[in-house]
Amino acid sequence: MSNFVISDRFYFSSETLSLINKYFGSTFVIKYGGSAMQNPNLQSQVIEDLSLLHFLGINIVLVHGGGIFINNWLNRLNIEPKFENGVRITDPEAMEIVEMVLVGKINKELVSLFNQNNICSIGLSGKDANLIHASAMFKSTSNLTGKVKSINSKVLHLLFSNRFIPVIASIASDLKGKTYNINADTVASSIASELKADKLILLTDMPGILRDVHDSSTLIKDISLDSLTNLLAEDVISGGMIPKIQSCIDALRSNVKSVHIIDGRLEHSILHELLTYNRVGSMIVS
Ligand SMILES: Nc1ncnc2c1ncn2[C@@H]1O[C@H](COP(=O)(O)OP(=O)(O)OP(=O)(O)O)[C@@H](O)[C@H]1O
Ligand SMILES: [Mg+2]
Repeated sequence: MSNFVISDRFYFSSETLSLINKYFGSTFVIKYGGSAMQNPNLQSQVIEDLSLLHFLGINIVLVHGGGIFINNWLNRLNIEPKFENGVRITDPEAMEIVEMVLVGKINKELVSLFNQNNICSIGLSGKDANLIHASAMFKSTSNLTGKVKSINSKVLHLLFSNRFIPVIASIASDLKGKTYNINADTVASSIASELKADKLILLTDMPGILRDVHDSSTLIKDISLDSLTNLLAEDVISGGMIPKIQSCIDALRSNVKSVHIIDGRLEHSILHELLTYNRVGSMIVS
């Protein structure tokens, strides 16, 4: 069978056809990290790649982060960004900025990019249609860092049945209407678990899980759920990779079939990872 070229780096072959066949009707939850969003051209390309997957009959949910953009805005307003174990600590002053940047700016920019590909996408925060119920992660009432209490996937099924792509910002409220900022990897994992998604895909600014974070040749391409749990104990994982790994573990334990962590700064990395057997990132299966 002849090959068809996607870029000068790779091409599709007969294996691609069998993967497309396998994926038809599947559900993929993709988390697009703010860290990988910095180049606008690449951002458009990522949305084009997701549009292609949508046209191939895959149900796509896009959850986005935006850490770097939030930090820029906090710095402009002389508010110091704070993190603990890779998770942002959000006080009430920072919360307003986080919500404005994630829901008002990044979410709408991504929806607008889908518009350019003639795809109907709907931007949602966890508040819309009661998609996510949040609760506090910490005891302090002035820390608005939240966790997912429950997911109400009704609106997602409604959107899938009309071939819309949900684009989700990781802001949600509790039953009393108090707003929380939740780590976007955690939200993506909870949504993937609730939907029993076939894949959870985390796009970040690293080639995948590295045994040595400073050496990309130490990429771990295939790893089992058990070995992943050991990595956490071995101190290989730090910063923003901590909630990512925990999210992978939670999703796989909730019957999501596989999780991929891939480099969102690499051209067509999603297609390369999903539509060829010569994958580029880390894949974790249970
Ligand atoms: N073993 C590891 N392998 C790969 N990355 C690691 C590892 N340990 C720590 N990291 C860090 O994890 C970071 C990715 O998480 P980070 O939260 O910064 O980005 P993101 O989640 O993609 O973006 P956002 O938080 O804006 O959604 C990398 O930039 C890297 O510094
Ligand atoms: Mg992160």
